[in-house]
Amino acid sequence: MSLHTGSDIPHHLAVIMDGNGRWAKARHLPRAEGHRQGVQALHRLVERAAERGVKVLTVFAFSSENWRRPAAEVNMLMRLFAVALRDWRTRLIDAGVSLRIVGELEPFPEDVKTAIAQTERATAAGTRMRLNVAANYGGRWDMCRAASALAAEGLPITPEAIAQKLATAPDGDVDLLIRTGGEQRISNFLLWQAAYAEIYFSDCLWPDFSAAHLDEALAWYEGRERRFGMTSEQVRGTAG
Ligand code: IPE
Ligand code: IPE
Ligand code: MG
Repeated sequence: MSLHTGSDIPHHLAVIMDGNGRWAKARHLPRAEGHRQGVQALHRLVERAAERGVKVLTVFAFSSENWRRPAAEVNMLMRLFAVALRDWRTRLIDAGVSLRIVGELEPFPEDVKTAIAQTERATAAGTRMRLNVAANYGGRWDMCRAASALAAEGLPITPEAIAQKLATAPDGDVDLLIRTGGEQRISNFLLWQAAYAEIYFSDCLWPDFSAAHLDEALAWYEGRERRFGMTSEQVRGTAG
């Protein structure tokens, strides 16, 4: 968390990539096609975010609630995930991006787990930007897991200690959270990490999200005054 009055690029950008299904429906295409195009939009986001100097990018790919979808769609998403992870390896290495999957990985199919481990290992040396892909992730799960880990170690449960045990640690708080697809809700994403995030809602459906859309969100963020509970005068250093 950094104190500033604007003109910064967010250190930690988080994105809820929503609207794949509606994008496909509007084109009379299967939802799967929306998800496939969504992967392309994610490629564009990763490239542009790294170019703009974002250091940590955390994207919501599959929530702990998304298991409730029809089995065919869940299976399709798992296949897409495995393929995307393999296809991405070289691209991420070339871009200097290290990938990490955050979430409860246990229920994923074996080949997906293998693809995750291999891609994480292959990209580990990337220092330009970290890409956290939240898969089977829920903010409540993350917080409970952190508190349980502290309890198991007999440590006091403080905000600082919880922050160090979250799935995204050592990456800190989210500075800017973008949600596409027109909904204005958090859907159990980074509940703890986004406590003081600036939140940008866009009506753009995720597969349409372009570098220009990201630039627009970053320009909006630059104009925000982040006060963290203080007065505007304090933040601007004009307080008496
Ligand atoms: C987001 O798009 C992708 C995932 C949740 C996996 P949706 O699939 O939620 O698209 P809409 O909201 O139905 O349009
Ligand atoms: C949130 O989108 C999860 C992801 C983008 C992966 P959903 O489309 O699942 O969210 P709700 O259920 O409409 O809030
Ligand atoms: Mg949705």
